[in-house]
Amino acid sequence: MSTFKAPKGTYDLLPPNSASYLAVREAIAAPLRNSGYGYIETPGFENVELFARGVGESTDIVTKEMYAFETKGGDRLALRPEGTASVLRAALEANLHKGGNLPVKLWYSGSYYRYERPQKGRYRHFSQVGAEAIGAEDPALDAELIILADQAYRSLGLRDFRILLNSLGDKTCRPVYRAALQEFLRGLELDEDTRRRIDINPLRVLDDKRESVQEQLIGAPMLRDYLCEECKAYHEQVRELLTAAGVAFEDDPKLVRGLDYYTRTTFEFVHDGLGSQSAVGGGGRYDGLSEMIGGPELPSVGWALGVDRTVLALEAEGITLDIPAATAVYAVPLGEEARRVLFGTVTELRRAGVATDFAYGGKGLKNAMKSANRSGARLALVAGERDLGEGVVQVKDLESGEQTPVAVDAVVEEVRRRLG
Ligand code: HAM
Repeated sequence: MSTFKAPKGTYDLLPPNSASYLAVREAIAAPLRNSGYGYIETPGFENVELFARGVGESTDIVTKEMYAFETKGGDRLALRPEGTASVLRAALEANLHKGGNLPVKLWYSGSYYRYERPQKGRYRHFSQVGAEAIGAEDPALDAELIILADQAYRSLGLRDFRILLNSLGDKTCRPVYRAALQEFLRGLELDEDTRRRIDINPLRVLDDKRESVQEQLIGAPMLRDYLCEECKAYHEQVRELLTAAGVAFEDDPKLVRGLDYYTRTTFEFVHDGLGSQSAVGGGGRYDGLSEMIGGPELPSVGWALGVDRTVLALEAEGITLDIPAATAVYAVPLGEEARRVLFGTVTELRRAGVATDFAYGGKGLKNAMKSANRSGARLALVAGERDLGEGVVQVKDLESGEQTPVAVDAVVEEVRRRLG
């Protein structure tokens, strides 16, 4: 006998826990829907070039973690490792930016794939809800996105998260900083791999977790000191708007994100109960990405929040979401005639919008009542031959145990009245 297992680094979402995932997605989406963001869905795979150019040839995501493959027809594709490049590609392809209505504000929800070393909070298949505001350079837009993510987390009851904020400069000031940092890093004792990184992506070296590296980084030039006046003023405005909105943040001059497209505002939401995979969400401005993938100049900003890690954060804070029972009414037929009559009632209740389930498979009373209780239903409808002979169905309150006979054709109305 062979047993199938989910592939390494993946897991299945099963009831009842899967309900929390849906609720988290919904809680993140709600503030976006409420703020002018329209829903977008793009394919689960794209031409590999899009991510190579968009996310960046020097990133771990592209060099090590991408599920890239050649199709039978010879196309080079990759499962999407993130959403931003795809969403921008789709917006450009549909000319959404030409409608004279910028920024184009979009939100999305879906599965993403990275060939990472799996551990708690880090999977090869994971789920994000994201938002992108394309085609406007306005600090209020950066602030809006951070405020909406904060609102989403708070609506779930989360408290132990922090917002880290930084500015990565723009195409004027960052190259100057980059050169200064490279010069500093070249003077350090570093291994082969890290030395190579100095040439390709020196800012990532600042992010190295090893103590031997961190020790040497004391005194490294900081981007903060190299920001041009425009970037400084822009960042100051984002900070002021967040403060005015009562959203607390921490300046983190070392915050470097794992994707190459960022400019100016970058931020991360970290949760203190998650151990090493503490980033529950992140994002920032990407003013150059459109041009990197062949589009016009379209300064943009966005974020993506990890659904898997948000669920872990809820667990870490001991929060159970208040998810209404899936079933309100459970029908238990005893015998053939009752099966026919109650099935009709169930259909009618469902059409009236009442969440109703039915004891299938000719279960005995005891088993059927167990299922009724397990379903979380408030009411059970029980009917046997004798009840039907009297033209009634027993409506049983599953909390109090109290049972009342109700005329068959009045059941739907009575149930709706009782459920309020
Ligand atoms: P990211 O920081 O790579 O950004 O991912 C965002 C979030 O997705 C992370 O904070 C984390 O919660 C979750 N996540 C990432 N990788 C994994 C994984 N292997 N397992 C579980 N969760 C994971 C982006 O993807 C950018 N596209 C965000 C963005 C949108 N920037 C601008 N617009």
